Amino acid sequence: MKVSFSLNRKAVEVEVEEKATLLWTLRDKFQLTGTKYSCGIAQCGSCTVHIEGNPVRSCMMPMRAIAGKDIVTIEGLSEGDTKHALQDAWVEEQVPQCGYCQSGQIMQAAALLKKNPNPTREEIVDYMDGVLCRCGAYMRIISAIQRVATKG
Ligand code: FES
Ligand code: FES
Repeated sequence: MKVSFSLNRKAVEVEVEEKATLLWTLRDKFQLTGTKYSCGIAQCGSCTVHIEGNPVRSCMMPMRAIAGKDIVTIEGLSEGDTKHALQDAWVEEQVPQCGYCQSGQIMQAAALLKKNPNPTREEIVDYMDGVLCRCGAYMRIISAIQRVATKG
């Protein structure tokens, strides 16, 4: 089947199998490998992207549900040469350890700050709950989000 949608602010069309998921279409058809496969069952958040501005786990998202939708991946989070404030904060707080979960963490955090530019620590913890980090970088993730929130 053919699916047309917006990917990182560009109109695209792709030919995929009926059972194709968004995660593997991004990785295999568009070479957008920043979105990671981990659990594959919508339980860890490593594969989080934005669909219509909302954080969604792409590993279980069928491509047939993507037609006409607006998708943003970690590669599209910055706009041209302008980095997202979270990307600077992530560097300043030296958040990643192995790095594997980090694009999912940043996409989840970006969705939070879009809805709520100045969340409390409790709201950050609540919203980020369920995006798992096996390296346990949670404290630095929270600090980086707070760094942007207090500027906002
Ligand atoms: S790989 Fe999608 S939620 Fe874990
Ligand atoms: S930094 Fe290694 S899993 Fe999160």
